Amino acid sequence: MNFVEVIARKRDGFELTPDEVQAFVRGASNGHIPDEQLAAMLMAICIRGASAREIQDLVEAMRDSGACWRLGESVPEAVDKHSTGGVGDSVSLVFAPLVAACGVPVVMMAGAGLGHTQGTLDKLSAVHGFRVCVSRSEALDRLSRCGVGIAAQSDEVAPADRRLYLLRDVTGTVPSLPLIVASIMSKKLAVGARRLVLDVKCGSGAFCRTPEAARELAEALVGVGHRAGVSVHSLITDMTQPLGDRLGCASEVRAALEVLGGRGDGRLRGLTVELAVEALVLAGRDRGVARAELERRLADGSALARWAEVVRAHGGDPDESRLARPSRTVPVPAHRGGFVAAVDGEGLGWIAVSLGAGRRRQGDRIDLAAGLRVHARVGDPIEPGQPLVTLEVGDRTVEVGPLASRAAAAFRIEDEAPPKTPMILARLGGAD
Ligand code: URA
Repeated sequence: MNFVEVIARKRDGFELTPDEVQAFVRGASNGHIPDEQLAAMLMAICIRGASAREIQDLVEAMRDSGACWRLGESVPEAVDKHSTGGVGDSVSLVFAPLVAACGVPVVMMAGAGLGHTQGTLDKLSAVHGFRVCVSRSEALDRLSRCGVGIAAQSDEVAPADRRLYLLRDVTGTVPSLPLIVASIMSKKLAVGARRLVLDVKCGSGAFCRTPEAARELAEALVGVGHRAGVSVHSLITDMTQPLGDRLGCASEVRAALEVLGGRGDGRLRGLTVELAVEALVLAGRDRGVARAELERRLADGSALARWAEVVRAHGGDPDESRLARPSRTVPVPAHRGGFVAAVDGEGLGWIAVSLGAGRRRQGDRIDLAAGLRVHARVGDPIEPGQPLVTLEVGDRTVEVGPLASRAAAAFRIEDEAPPKTPMILARLGGAD
């Protein structure tokens, strides 16, 4: 098969045959298709979309591009969790130890940063010595030792997603329903937990900007899960501004530790508890009892203690003082007073990438200390000169002036307070 012809067919809006989808995925995982052709196909899919059949074919081919761990057969009560990608979203770092501390095992195939969003894998790389599981036996070992197994795409599992993910990150091909569904569900099905909690983000910091687009994405994700026999609960959640108050790898680990210790950012804590409730409900717990138990685990120190166990079981050192620290901080003041009416989450995400917290090219090294601290949220009253964000500079030489101007412009300040918007916009599955 001449793959250039396949790219041209997708470019011209034709539906790919199952054989063509197979050829694309096989070529991505065995390296036979070069980056430029894969990137062209990704862009063609991004612009032209894909039919439901093509999406299902993509998911299955990508799942089968490596080993299928079928962890649900050995640990049927294990739950997996994934977010479609947002800014300041360190939920997974809190969710895994918190849910495990309530007696429900968590197996998580995490991802690196994509586009303007920072990924769980990059954040975990800020934890000294942390190594993700690269085989089924390692995942089972970690689950038995600490109740959590965190894995990543590799040559062994989900290799097609591994290659396509890295390319999408640096080619502007992330915001595509078919590619997001195929990426997320192929690796979830390859790991094989029977229960899945999904956080579908919606708003200026997310890949879906409207509630309609987020619902379409959530329905597609849940549909693939159900066809594979996975119980899925999905929340569609607000991403019109960063979720937590920090962006960047080491900084987001600190944010997660604060929440695990019973303090921390209220929005990050609130959403994590909501998603964790879904995990416990999937495990058969009563919703109200689940919520009370989660709150208790955060308050009594057992969630934080579980984090330390999870880190040690994955070869890491939980000592917080080993997390990278910024070499310089630059506060960005408000030019006027009023109320924060809107925050451009994507804009702040790209500023974090420019500071070094994400990649612009394949193979870029992440600066673990780089990021942002967000001081003002939608609805907050603001005085002129009050800091909106603080830029955190790591070990790179960056020109902060233009970034500070962009950061200030990411905040729209008006005279009136905006109406309050809910954190959870919709629920799919499990809304009892
Ligand atoms: N998370 C993934 O794993 N893949 C995507 O495409 C988006 C978010």
